[in-house]
Amino acid sequence: MHNHCEHPYTNDSVRALQWTGTGLRVLDQRQLPSSVAYDDYDSASGVAEAIRSMRVRGAPAIGIAAAYGVVLAAKQRHYQSPNHWKESINQDIDLLAASRPTAVNLFWALDKMRQAIASIGDDPSPLLTLALAIHEDDIAANRRMGGLGAELLEGSTGVLTHCNTGSLATGGYGTALGVIRSAYSHGLRNIYACETRPWLQGARLTAWELDQDHIPAKLIADSAAAWLMQTGAVQWVIVGADHIAANGDAANKIGTYSHAVNARFHGVKFMVVAPTSTIDWNTNSGKAIQIEERERKELLSEYYHREDSVIDAWNPVFDVTPACLIDAIVTEKGVVLNPDADKMQRLNG
Ligand code: MRU
Repeated sequence: MHNHCEHPYTNDSVRALQWTGTGLRVLDQRQLPSSVAYDDYDSASGVAEAIRSMRVRGAPAIGIAAAYGVVLAAKQRHYQSPNHWKESINQDIDLLAASRPTAVNLFWALDKMRQAIASIGDDPSPLLTLALAIHEDDIAANRRMGGLGAELLEGSTGVLTHCNTGSLATGGYGTALGVIRSAYSHGLRNIYACETRPWLQGARLTAWELDQDHIPAKLIADSAAAWLMQTGAVQWVIVGADHIAANGDAANKIGTYSHAVNARFHGVKFMVVAPTSTIDWNTNSGKAIQIEERERKELLSEYYHREDSVIDAWNPVFDVTPACLIDAIVTEKGVVLNPDADKMQRLNG
């Protein structure tokens, strides 16, 4: 089923999350690009499972989905117990919080919903207004970051991105891919995307969404990135983030750190694009960021899934790029060049 919306901005037609009026419609990202299928959710446990199973993925999209999950929980609990629903909703929020550990936006959105619950009466309807605002604000932040990031690219002819940071990973438009979208509309033409092993967010999702929006790009194997950089074809690596520490260290999809190391060696600049909802002011450095490890089956071919196989796998799905390898962090509140703890604090508040 094709369910794309038209938006006033060009080259931005995909939406992974849609509030239907009664529930949350989720584009199943596990099936892209071979099949475009949507699932409808009417409970917090359903939304938590959609996040855990990676039907929904990408830090901002996870946060937005969780906010809608709280709306659905409140609706259900209020129906069961109109005057006491607040007493039991914390278990739904805890279930949503346990869905994925690295995305700060998840905890940020759940905190916002928790605060709203504490401030309203027995009518839960203001929660939907808040979830819709979280969704809309994310798109607005992405458009702003798109403009700010594209300004930094002036004079550049080529960029490399990793993972999927586009409309599929956010409320819409995208973070790093939003910058690329914006730069494309200003004439940037050489866009390279890493396939992003093992889950192939680049090969399956970034390629699909750019194809939908008619933005030409070249896919490369992750292991071709250093070799691409030495050709001089790209001047910037542009990535998103799942968790940014107060000193600017940034956790993102596994492979990002090696791109940053390679970029510095080749004199290629490195940009992290993320809304301030991805910054965790309580974590001082990247060393304290919890890195999700997913099951060995995601990495091993089926032959090795058998019990008696001696082949195991180590499958961390994020890594941390230290602030000293980052040239610019682009947020909706402004750009921090050569980030450190002091400069990052200007974004706080
Ligand atoms: O495991 P995923 O696909 O949820 O990981 C997503 C990423 O690493 C993205 O780069 C990050 O969430 C930023 S998306 C705007």
